[in-house]
Amino acid sequence: MKRIGIVGAGHVGLVTGACFAKIGHWVICADNDEEKIRKLKNLEMPFYEPKLEEIVKEGVKNKRLFFTTSIKELTEKSEVIFIAVGTPSTSDGRADLSYVENVTVEIAEALRELKKKKKSIYRLIVEKSTVPVLTGEWVKKTLNLLTPTGVDFDIAANPEFLREGSAVDDFMKPDRIVIGVENEKSKKIFEEIYAPIKAPIIFTDIKSAELIKHASNSFLALKISYINAISQICEKVGADVEKVAEGMGYDKRIGKEFLKAGVGYGGSCFPKDVSAFIHLAKEIGYSFNLLKEVEKINKEQRKLIVKKARQFLWNLKGKRIGILGLSFKPNTDDIRESPALDIIKILKGEKAEIKCYDPKAMENTKKIFPELEYCENPYKVAEKSDLLIFLTEWEEFKKLDFKKIKELMRMPYIIDGRNFLDAEKIIKMGFYYTGVGKYPIKK
Ligand code: UDX
Ligand code: UDX
Repeated sequence: MKRIGIVGAGHVGLVTGACFAKIGHWVICADNDEEKIRKLKNLEMPFYEPKLEEIVKEGVKNKRLFFTTSIKELTEKSEVIFIAVGTPSTSDGRADLSYVENVTVEIAEALRELKKKKKSIYRLIVEKSTVPVLTGEWVKKTLNLLTPTGVDFDIAANPEFLREGSAVDDFMKPDRIVIGVENEKSKKIFEEIYAPIKAPIIFTDIKSAELIKHASNSFLALKISYINAISQICEKVGADVEKVAEGMGYDKRIGKEFLKAGVGYGGSCFPKDVSAFIHLAKEIGYSFNLLKEVEKINKEQRKLIVKKARQFLWNLKGKRIGILGLSFKPNTDDIRESPALDIIKILKGEKAEIKCYDPKAMENTKKIFPELEYCENPYKVAEKSDLLIFLTEWEEFKKLDFKKIKELMRMPYIIDGRNFLDAEKIIKMGFYYTGVGKYPIKK
């Protein structure tokens, strides 16, 4: 059992902490958001993530999972400290590392205090958040400058690969664990930490580990933009992008995953990581044009949905448009960089009347667009609507009674931004339906 501290109890930090407790470690999670910590102490989840509540409750009950607002307390009590605070984008698209820096400084200050009480101190400080390559060097430099002599520490990088909606499973059954270390001592600690998890562990240096994260996320974003570019070609020639993707995916060298065409990628990682990687490359003298194109295609996919709406409805002014799905993907209430937000913004700009529904993400969306009409179910959205746009592939949308929906709508238009509905059935019912890269709108 290791004594582990996690700074930042967000999507990544809280899942990581609860999972470490689940596999037998003693864990303390710190966050500077007092309300979040108060909720967690009361066993209320600050966001929705499947399976999380169960393991948080279990960890707390078994006295293996604790919460605090104090980095000082966390530094005192844990041997290994993971930094999992946000690394958002700055206005020009760089990674904002100020939270990582602040936390590093606070840990150093806590170590200084601790040194007054204890003779020998060792801490392993680990980057968990997605950070640009060379961040580890800054963390080390900062700690070197601010910790007193006699405090022994190592730094390491252990990037997360947790998808929202399946984060707990991704932690417990990962494809691989990537760890960047500087010496054998740190390596041994990680071997002990991850012993219960059956997965290949890739040990490397810190810079390579940092790069693996950015390179992986950018590559996945590239795969999505690639298939979205192919989807545009499919629409123009009347081919079916899903069949094209399926045919490509059977080639093991390509693989089936992340070849779903749609409204483009969103979320707290891909958009920010691609952008940060482009900026980092520029700073070190490389112009990453390939990734610039990935970003461009992703933005265009969102506009394409509005173009389709115009093709169906002619003018959007005054039209009643129903949006089904607000989160950036299913099984989460997260709307960060969600395609729905951009699409709603454009539709609002064209003076369309917008009604919407999402099983989990309405509260978060209300904070950004309080003026929209939020409905209690998809049927209320359909009532007197001229067009329904599906933007998130929630399971419950697949099971809708489309016969009833058709009766409720004023005009029977459907845009399936994720190609997930039973198109044949819907078209047979008399809807005008279009997907992305299949079923183009007939002129
Ligand atoms: C974040 C990063 O954005 C991502 O790049 C990384 O891979 C993992 O961490 P996420 O966990 O989704 O992703 O962010 P979020 O849910 O916003 O959680 C960050 C937490 O850190 C918040 O709870 C916030 O209150 C906390 N925080 C932030 C601190 O405790 N201290 C700070 O100084 C800043
Ligand atoms: C991502 C990484 O996958 C994960 O390893 C970690 O680094 C955090 O960031 P996450 O953002 O939670 O996870 O979701 P993910 O499932 O990767 O989807 C990201 C976006 O891409 C979503 O908007 C999704 O709808 C979109 N997507 C995904 C597609 O448009 N097509 C696909 O084929 C797959």
